[in-house]
Amino acid sequence: MAFTRRDFLTSAALSTLAVGLNGQSTPSTDIHGPAPGPQATKGTGSGQGKPPILVSSANGWNGIDKGYQMLRDGKDTLDAAIAVGKTQEDDPNDMSVGLGGLPNEEGVVELDSCCMHGPTRMAGSVGGVRNIKNVALLAQAVMQHTGHVMLVGEGAEKFGYALGFPKENLLTERAHQIWLLWKESMSAEDWWGMGLDDPRYKLPEEGGSERSAAETREIERQRILELAERLHIEPEWREFAVNAVMYPPHGTIHCSVLNDKNEMSGMTTTSGLAWKIPGRCGDSPIIGAGNYCDQDVGSAGATGSGEENIRIAGAHTIVENMRKGMSPHEAGFDALKRIVRNFNNDSAKLQYVDMKYYILRKDGAYAGVTLWSGPADRPARFCVHDGTKRLEPMIALNQGQALDYPPNSRRRSRGAGRS
Ligand code: GLY
Repeated sequence: MAFTRRDFLTSAALSTLAVGLNGQSTPSTDIHGPAPGPQATKGTGSGQGKPPILVSSANGWNGIDKGYQMLRDGKDTLDAAIAVGKTQEDDPNDMSVGLGGLPNEEGVVELDSCCMHGPTRMAGSVGGVRNIKNVALLAQAVMQHTGHVMLVGEGAEKFGYALGFPKENLLTERAHQIWLLWKESMSAEDWWGMGLDDPRYKLPEEGGSERSAAETREIERQRILELAERLHIEPEWREFAVNAVMYPPHGTIHCSVLNDKNEMSGMTTTSGLAWKIPGRCGDSPIIGAGNYCDQDVGSAGATGSGEENIRIAGAHTIVENMRKGMSPHEAGFDALKRIVRNFNNDSAKLQYVDMKYYILRKDGAYAGVTLWSGPADRPARFCVHDGTKRLEPMIALNQGQALDYPPNSRRRSRGAGRS
C-alpha cells in the first residue's frame, strides 16, 4: 500500500487508514482509567475566545474551573495554569501525572514539568523527579528561586525538599499492580532498541503466519487480562491495565492561559511514557517542545509522542508561526506536518504517532489540533474555559485513529506461550 505525500496530507483520504492497515483497530490507551469523562462536545476546535480564557488538554477538565476562577479573581496567569495541572497531580486515580502516575521500567514514578510566565518572560523546568508529586509547582519554584531554568533528578528533588516540598511515595497500589502486570507479561519488550523514528526500524510483516495480527492481538489481550485477574487488579481497572501494558501511554496535561490584562502563561506536567527507561525525559519538561509562551504572541503546549515533539520543538514552532501571522489552527497544522515530514510521509509509521497541540493567541483566538481525529464516536477533544467550560473536538490533520504503539507482533516471540 503506497501513499504519496499528497495522499497523506489530505485528511479525508486517510479516513479508514488507521483501522484498515494491519487489521488493527485498537484506540490509543485512555490514560484516565475506567472513570467516564464528560461526554458533551461543543464547538469546532478553533474560535475566538474572550479573556480570561484557559485552553487545556481534555484531562484539564476537573481543574479548569478553579483556574478560571483564579483569573477572575485577578490571580497570576501562571498560578492559574498550574492549578489546572495540580488538580490532577493530586488525584491518585489519574495515572498520567503526579501521585498515581504510571512508573518507569523499574517501578519508580518519574515526573516531568515545565512552565513559562509571560509577564516576566521567565521559565522553569524539572525532569525525572521521583518523590515530589507537584512538579508543576516545583518547576515554578526553579523559575522563582534559582538562577537556573532546569533541574533534573536528585538535584531537583533536593532543591524541592529544601523549599519544603514533601517527600512522598508516588507509586500507588494500583499503579504498582499495573506495573507488576507489565513486568510479568511484557518485561522482555521494553524501550531498549530502535525507535519508530529509526530508518532501520521495520514494522512487522503481515502474512506468513497462521494467525492474523488481530487474532494474535486478541490472544495476547486475553492472556494479560487473565493475569490481571490473578494479580487482583480491580475489575473496573483491568481493561485500562491491559491497554497500558500492551500500549504504554504518555498521558500529559497542558494548560495555556490569557487574562483580561492580556497576560499569558503556560504549564505542562506529566509522569511521561509508561515503563520508560529510567531517566527518560519526554517533551513535557522541554521549554519550546512541551510548552512555550511568548507574551507578545501566544502560548502553546503538547501531549502525545514526546520524542516526536522534541524533534520539531513543537510549542515554539507554533508560537513562532503565529508571530509570522498564522492562525492558531494553521500554526498547529504546520507543526504536525513537520512530524509527517520527519517520517518522510511514511503513513505506515505515522499511524503509530499520537500528537496533539493546544494553542492560544494573545487576542484570545485558540485551537486544538491533532495528527489523528480519533474514532467518530470518540473524537479527540480539548478543554476551553472562557466563562463557558466546554470540550471541543480537535481539528485533525488526518481522519482516523492512531494505532497503539508498539505493533503487537513486535513481541511475537514472547507472546502466547507465556502466562
Ligand atoms: N508527552 C509526554 C511524554 O512523552 O512524556
